[in-house]
Amino acid sequence: MVPNKLKILLPLWAVVMAITAVKATADYVRPPARKTLHFPWDPKPSSHPQQVHISLAGENHMRVTWITSDASSPSLVEYGTSPGQYTSKGHGDTTSYSYILYSSGTIHHTVIGPLEHNTVYYYRCGGQGPELHFKTPPAQFPVTFAVAGDLGQTGWTKSTLDHIDLCEYDVHLLPGDLSYADYIQRRWDTFGELVQPLASARPWMVTQGNHEKENIPFFIDGFESYNARWKMPYEESGSSSNLFYSFEVAGAHVVMLGSYTYYDENSDQYNWLKADLSTVDRKKTPWLLALFHVPWYNSNHAHQGEGDEMMQVMEPLLYAAGVDIVFAGHVHAYERSKRVYNGKSDPCGPVHITIGDGGNKEGLANRYKDPSPEWSVFREASFGHGELKIVNSTHAFWSWHRNDDDESVRSDEAWITSFTTTGCVAKEQKEGR
Ligand SMILES: *[C@@H]1O[C@H](CO)[C@@H](O)[C@H](O)[C@H]1NC(C)=O
Repeated sequence: MVPNKLKILLPLWAVVMAITAVKATADYVRPPARKTLHFPWDPKPSSHPQQVHISLAGENHMRVTWITSDASSPSLVEYGTSPGQYTSKGHGDTTSYSYILYSSGTIHHTVIGPLEHNTVYYYRCGGQGPELHFKTPPAQFPVTFAVAGDLGQTGWTKSTLDHIDLCEYDVHLLPGDLSYADYIQRRWDTFGELVQPLASARPWMVTQGNHEKENIPFFIDGFESYNARWKMPYEESGSSSNLFYSFEVAGAHVVMLGSYTYYDENSDQYNWLKADLSTVDRKKTPWLLALFHVPWYNSNHAHQGEGDEMMQVMEPLLYAAGVDIVFAGHVHAYERSKRVYNGKSDPCGPVHITIGDGGNKEGLANRYKDPSPEWSVFREASFGHGELKIVNSTHAFWSWHRNDDDESVRSDEAWITSFTTTGCVAKEQKEGR
């Protein structure tokens, strides 16, 4: 951008080029993990709304979530389509939790709506605080999803978020591992502050990873903090648990699954998934997406085979329903498959994309199985993010953007056509059900 920055970057570029000239296979020099960000203590009035984020909450509704230190602050959201003019309001409820010596602030969840599609709303939380704004997703295609998992809160996370912020997207999809708080509850608060600029402006739809669990056997159940802070529309989608749910946006039905809750054939999750998939109307939602944390198709040495058990049970359900794309995280790298099923390429299976490359403190997973499996199209261990632009009922453009130093560089891209065009008929329809 600025010439000064270029002056610094150009010699660096020369060095990188020189290295690549010597080592022909290394076309890109991967940077190491960056340090966890430092968040100076910033005292605010106890009723100041902090860590604001929004999520889709059933048709034409949005859930606004924020935290105050003050328990008596109202769960009120005032909003309207012009700055400073709040023509509507919504009231919600609060929760809080304790974790060993830590007590959370008051966590407010307020659902507002009905809202117009593709419209900017100005809002404020708790009857005070700064004015924020968000844009609702469109009613029809095109619709764009930003995708990045395993975020954490390091210098690389910041770089990834900056790149996502530059992209014109409607909804953020996060396939697990948010804060990397790892039992230190204060880090959930700093993560909430870090993502607020993005997560208060576009709905963030998340599912859990291993870093959300934070259970202590016989003492603290899993997902206590995650469930309190990142409430998703599970009630709205007929699920019994915040750990699995679905939502619809424009012409896409999105299923969010839990890799760390029961998925066997007698489980709530399995039965809910079966019922949820049976309600999908491909005329209304020609695109069907699924997200969960642990990848089923992964040729990285990291976390090899960890998704096998869930895959064995649930892959037939996703296949029968004709899922188009599966997004997973967990492996800190990027990989895209062909359409696959049962361990090999299959034109009637989903494309699997591993995108656990948001930028967390653990660094990259850069050891791959050699040779690459026949189903693997592209794999690379770099931090970055993805963008899925669903153009119409048949075509979507997928691109993956690597954080090349602090520039966002599009490194993989593909047109994906929807299952409805592949000539594959959903199993249930084949069987005349
Ligand atoms: C959908 O978009 C693709 C890519 O732009 C285009 O080739 C195709 O004709 C479009 N289909 C319809 C039905 O508009």
